[in-house]
Amino acid sequence: MPHRVTKAIFPVAGLGTRFLPATKSVPKEIMTLVDRPLIQYAIDEAREAGIKEFIFVTSRGKGALEDYFDHAPTLEQELRKKGKDDLLDILKTTNMDSGEIAYIRQHKALGLGHAVWCARRLIGNEPFAVILPDDVIAAETSCLKQMVDAYAETGGNMVAAMEVPPEKASSYGVLDVADDMGHMVSIKGMVEKPAPGTAPSNLAVIGRYILSPNVLTNLNKLESGAGGEIQLTDAIADELQQENAVYGYRFRGQRFDCGSKSGFLQATVAFGLAREELRDDLSAYIRDIVKMENAAE
Ligand code: G1P
Repeated sequence: MPHRVTKAIFPVAGLGTRFLPATKSVPKEIMTLVDRPLIQYAIDEAREAGIKEFIFVTSRGKGALEDYFDHAPTLEQELRKKGKDDLLDILKTTNMDSGEIAYIRQHKALGLGHAVWCARRLIGNEPFAVILPDDVIAAETSCLKQMVDAYAETGGNMVAAMEVPPEKASSYGVLDVADDMGHMVSIKGMVEKPAPGTAPSNLAVIGRYILSPNVLTNLNKLESGAGGEIQLTDAIADELQQENAVYGYRFRGQRFDCGSKSGFLQATVAFGLAREELRDDLSAYIRDIVKMENAAE
């Protein structure tokens, strides 16, 4: 029986340059879809999957993230005085118990593999999850929960996977599939950002991972890979060299690439439409502008 997964790493050290000037003073992960920051979606997903320890790999300028998970005594007192229990309940979802959350600094931007490696001492000898908050996944059962359930049967290593158009494959880690079992594929290789036309498949890695602690050992000896960065993909591919299993998991749900402006806007619309109190107004507005666009053509 594989060990239960109770620790998750959230790499949040990136500069978010694609969202400048906003990210000059606001961490990208605090940017909001409707009224919740990206990081809240990631945390809620992890909680649903049974994660108990939340490890943030941060960098300079990410103080707002630490404050976000803290209690806010003055604000809470004010809301209590005014009897705003609904808002107090919303605030509760942002709080972490002392000791549940840890922050590690990545001192140099050396890549995703390096960011994960920075948390090695907090992981020890247990399997762990990695969540990239840029990938927001709308799903009935959270993506990580689906993976944790599948992992309880398989053990090994598991990455979330999704078919992407072939011309987009070079923006992702891409799987070389050994055996396709439907929801799950076993893999024989993984390439980070393959050059156009060289991808082994169009099954891309999405930012959810359940990894064996051995991946951290693999990271000890990694040199920089694609884009001159230390790549998590390469450390996972190393598992295959050592004959340790790696699976791709085709999750049920819709993934939004909130690392891009277009993906972020699409997520904003989708999450807005999913909210009962916003649905009617927003969909009427969208219908109107589409009508106007069509009329102008
Ligand atoms: C990272 C990973 C890549 C993965 C992607 C998913 O890339 O390195 O393997 O496919 O996330 O979003 P990034 O988007 O940070 O360049």
